[in-house]
Amino acid sequence: MTGILRRRPTAWLVVVVACALALVAIDAGPGPDGPTASAEPVRNATIVIEAGGARTGFAPPEVTVGGGGTVTVVNLDSLDHTVTSVARAADGTPLFDVRVAAGTSATVPGVEALSAGAWAFYCKFHPSMRGVINVEGVAGGVEPVDTRFEQPLVVPSTRRGADIRLVMRRADVRTLPDGPRTSMWTYDGSYPGPTIRRRGGRGTEVTIVNRLPHGAGSMSTHLHGDHHASADDGQPTTHLIARGSERTYDYPLVVDGRPEPGSFFWYHDHRMDRTARNNWRGLQGMFIVTDPPSRGLRLPTGRRDVPLMVSERSFTSGNQLTDPFADGPEMVGHHGEMSWTGAHAPPDDATVGDKVLVNGRYAPYLDVSATRYRLRLLNSSPFSSYNFTLSDGRPFLQIGTGSGLLPRAVVRSGVLLGPAQRADVIVDFSGATGQRLVLGSVPAANGTSGDDARETAVMEFRVGAPARDASRLPSRLPSPKLVSPVPAKVSQTWTFGLEESSHHGSAWTINGRAFDPSRVDHRARLDTVERWRFRNTSDVTHYVHIHAEQWRTLRRDGKRPPPWERGLEDTWRLEPGEEVEVAARFTDYTGPFMIHCHMLDHEDHGMMARFDVVR
Ligand code: C2O
Ligand code: CU
Repeated sequence: MTGILRRRPTAWLVVVVACALALVAIDAGPGPDGPTASAEPVRNATIVIEAGGARTGFAPPEVTVGGGGTVTVVNLDSLDHTVTSVARAADGTPLFDVRVAAGTSATVPGVEALSAGAWAFYCKFHPSMRGVINVEGVAGGVEPVDTRFEQPLVVPSTRRGADIRLVMRRADVRTLPDGPRTSMWTYDGSYPGPTIRRRGGRGTEVTIVNRLPHGAGSMSTHLHGDHHASADDGQPTTHLIARGSERTYDYPLVVDGRPEPGSFFWYHDHRMDRTARNNWRGLQGMFIVTDPPSRGLRLPTGRRDVPLMVSERSFTSGNQLTDPFADGPEMVGHHGEMSWTGAHAPPDDATVGDKVLVNGRYAPYLDVSATRYRLRLLNSSPFSSYNFTLSDGRPFLQIGTGSGLLPRAVVRSGVLLGPAQRADVIVDFSGATGQRLVLGSVPAANGTSGDDARETAVMEFRVGAPARDASRLPSRLPSPKLVSPVPAKVSQTWTFGLEESSHHGSAWTINGRAFDPSRVDHRARLDTVERWRFRNTSDVTHYVHIHAEQWRTLRRDGKRPPPWERGLEDTWRLEPGEEVEVAARFTDYTGPFMIHCHMLDHEDHGMMARFDVVR
């Protein structure tokens, strides 16, 4: 009977049979599968998340439902998870998306409307959890939509002076291609703020004025990656910029008497407990330190040197930013024993967005000629990581980190960047005239580095005709000198973990303690070299960032670091169970500086520590 129906569906028959099927389905209850005697019931399915699901994934990872069937998710884990489709609707939002709190169950909305086919899904908070819903039979009409790249990429305006003034204020900025602009908190009226471009060694003063709305509170701007005095570091609780006032940050762009090497820094808000919110609202911008022209490298320049700030957000139907912090966790305790309770307390604090923006625009395109381009990739998302690839498998030639050139260029098919990480890459578009290449993020294979990256399109390159190109691919690079010799002994171990207690709430911790700005967690002596070790005892990846100095990576899990980690670095990926060792010389400045996880929810919820450089 169903067979006949499928071949010759007439309206009335469909209605009658659909009612019959509905009755049978109710009769049969919500049991998973098993066709009954006469008519086939709608096949529903159940997905279970067992305890430890962030590691073990969905059980089973692949389910099959009949057209119109539903999928129930039972979450037996102690963490919240989501079931989120990779496929998107025309407006860019996932076709189905449900958050299933720890110890609850939910039905995945929208599955009944999907057309037949295989629908990949993942957990937004633990993207290495992936699965597939197969929809069979006479199904709904919802089809996947390819991402449409409808607006041109915008490169933020550039500031080159020694005296720069940026006013933090609310502004309506274009983020989505249609409809109203988005109200954001900005540096000088744009998101991202203006890109500051300065030659290494040329002192730069940046005055930040706080004209943000009431309720925004005091702010603090950190120039991520730069070497400068403690008072100019954008401290989380001191040297703040109160509403209505301003503060001048002094950046000499000098390290130990020498000009800073060419690097790709960025500036962003760093206010204690509010960093995730303030960055989500838009307080982010890029800062490029350039080398003197005498370096003689023939890298792509001018319009072919493109900074790309990649950052995700979610929007309301009126194109406004959602407020993931409105129902944030409640802080309990006092200094030294700070912790959080309620919904979205650690480890369920993860600010993710539906839409990936590049330089503040969703799904932009860039017209390029079929020549070489230098792309400076920055992940400024609060939480997510991306494993960047090009849709035709074209490689990136990575020439630098955010902190300077690598000793040798590295050919890579994927570039994994967590929050605050940067990569300096060259892409050669020759041979692609007339093509549209998509820069996207794909998770790496199961269980390998980057399997927790998001799966998403990011932007499109529209490749035009070849053009004159004076650039050359470098192999040996004049990379900055690394500290040497290094001490054999580890001077300080930083252990990244999670503390949970049933009475006192939970916190992300370093060495077992949540951040306390008045506690000095380590003292390092000026003009000495220290060797530090990071360990991760929690079950999620963290991204460790150190202020004040640029570091040499010595060991990753006891081995020499991979080729792309052999330059200077300030932010490291640290997977569960991993150990990383780094070394630096403390020069020029004494005073307090920070070490923290750059997943901003973790930073705001305890995972930060203070070290003081002392004489
Ligand atoms: Cu990019 Cu302490 O931050
Ligand atoms: Cu973290």
